[in-house]
Parts: sequence; C-alpha cells; structure tokens
Amino acid sequence: MTLTERPEPSAAINDVIVEIHASGFVPTEMEWPSTWTDRAGRDKTPSIPGHELAGVVTALGYGTTGLSVGQRVFGLADWHRDGTLAEYVAIEARNLAALPGDVAFTVGASLPISGLTAWQGLFQHGRLQAGQTVLAHGAAGAVGTMVTQLARETGAYVIGTGRAADREKALDFGAHEFVDLENDALKDVGGVDLVFDVIGGDVQKQSAALIRAGGTLVSVVGPVEARPTDGLAVDFVVEADRAALGEIVQRVRDGRLRTNIGDVASLDDAVGALNPTTRRSGKTIIRVRP
Ligand SMILES: NC(=O)c1ccc[n+]([C@@H]2O[C@H](COP(=O)([O-])OP(=O)(O)OC[C@H]3O[C@@H](n4cnc5c(N)ncnc54)[C@H](OP(=O)(O)O)[C@@H]3O)[C@@H](O)[C@H]2O)c1
Repeated sequence: MTLTERPEPSAAINDVIVEIHASGFVPTEMEWPSTWTDRAGRDKTPSIPGHELAGVVTALGYGTTGLSVGQRVFGLADWHRDGTLAEYVAIEARNLAALPGDVAFTVGASLPISGLTAWQGLFQHGRLQAGQTVLAHGAAGAVGTMVTQLARETGAYVIGTGRAADREKALDFGAHEFVDLENDALKDVGGVDLVFDVIGGDVQKQSAALIRAGGTLVSVVGPVEARPTDGLAVDFVVEADRAALGEIVQRVRDGRLRTNIGDVASLDDAVGALNPTTRRSGKTIIRVRP
C-alpha cells in the first residue's frame, strides 16, 4: 500500500464527484475479490481502497439528481470501483445521503458500513422486535457497537460477546450482559431470538444451537455454515441505503447512537494507520483534509 498521485476521477451518468474530507476502511478489504477486480473479473490494480466517505459534492454527472454541488454528504462507495482513501471519488448519487452541518466529517465517515450493516442485519434480515433477546457477537467492535445500541433502542435484551478485554466497552455501549468468549461457555447463555454473527466458525455453530423456534441467525462473515433447527439463517453484504443513513445520522445527532472511532490519522499517515502492528479498538478514520 502506497500513497501516490492518481488522475482526478470523472463523473459517469448518475455519479457525483465528492471532495473527500474523511474516509473509513474495513481491515478485511485487502482479502475481498472486489478490491482487486472489476465486476467482469478483470484486474483493476492499482486499486484505491476504502469504501466509506464524508465530504462535499464538487460536480454532478450527466442526469444526476437528488444532490447538489456544495452539499455535505456521506455514504458507502461501490465495492468494485476505486474507493475513498483519496482526495476525490466518483460515486453514484444513490450511494450517498446528506450529512447535517453539525455532524463532523470524521463521524460521518465512520457510520456507513458499521451503521448500515447493523441496521440491515437487525431490522431487514433479523426482523427484530421489542422484547426479543439478541446475541451480539464482537459487541465492542465497529459493527457490534452499532448492533448493541440499535437493538437496545428497539427494546431488545442484548447479550454482547467478545474478548475479556472488551467487557467494559461492550457494557458501556449498552449490552445488558457480556459473555467473554475466551473464558465463558456460550451454551450457558440460554435461548435467544437473534444472533448477530461477526466472527463465524465455531462461535457461529455454537450460537445457532441457542436460537429459539422462529429465531434468526444473521451473519456478515460469508456463507452461513450453521443453521438453527427451527429458524432462519441469513448471510448478507451491506448495501447503500440513503433512507437508513438518514435514520442513523439522526440518531447520532440526538445522542441515541455513538460512533466507535479508535484512531484518526491524516492521509500522509494512512498507510501506517491501516496496517497496525498492535491491536486496535474501534474504527480507524483517515482525515483526508485537515
Ligand atoms: N458482510 C458485510 O456486509 C460486512 C459488513 C461489515 C463488516 N463485515 C465483517 O464483519 C467482521 C467484523 O467487522 P468489524 O468492522 O466490526 O470488525 P472489528 O471492529 O474488528 O470488530 C470485531 C470484534 O469481534 C472481536 N472478535 C473477533 N473474533 C473474536 C473471537 N474469536 N473471540 C472473541 N472476540 C472476537 C474482535 O476482537 P479482536 O479485534 O481482538 O479480534 C472485535 O472486537 C469483519 O470480518 C468484517 O469484514 C461484513
């Protein structure tokens, strides 16, 4: 990964050009096929990684509606196109939502993947209802903290999981109780209605066995390997959704939702920040413009 000069992108039909102020990155994206190839499977290197952004619209492509030049926006970039760890990106307008003036660009860039993943997993795929019990794996992580907060706001009972060191953070983000996956037995948790899996493997298999009749296993770490005996198993990849981004950012503004930002680094320091040698807690955000 290197910092280098690239030509400025041009806006295709329905695109906007965004001057990026802050950008977010998922640690696993170097393993995704979409980082290295286009939709037809052709090599697209050198690739620009990063798929979350907050910035200002500077140009509109032919036929683009719904956004205007000078507008503050945030959103989720297409997996197969050049990403957001850059000064400018060309992105379809429908992938973006308005970023209110009182929400910092760094905060806006931290929300799209973790916020939309939690939103879609809980409400669209998991059909969460008040009074249900949610097992939120990795509850101190980027997705897990959003899952925990949104589930709790909905009136669910939230059991967070993670490593021993994550207990306080998971409880602080709203988990009612915490299961230390390194020392506690998952089977002692009892029945749950919804498992939100960000870990996979044995943790997923053991969790599937806890799901009550009619419950759901939702996974974001690839095809599900375990199914509840009487319930649904869903794996999905997060999608851009302007309306849901609006719901999420409104919750940030009124204090119902807190972001989980660990480090904020400059674009000059991005390569080091995105390839850490020690364990990081929370999302790393790159502040592209000071
Ligand atoms: N399908 C999708 O649309 C989608 C969207 C977003 C994310 N994801 C995927 O979801 C996963 C989580 O993403 P994230 O951004 O939330 O990552 P994250 O911030 O690193 O959170 C994951 C949390 O789970 C913990 N954890 C992982 N394995 C564990 C284990 N075996 N035992 C106990 N704790 C464990 C991590 O602790 P450590 O840091 O100590 O490992 C961390 O606290 C990633 O694989 C990501 O690629 C998928």
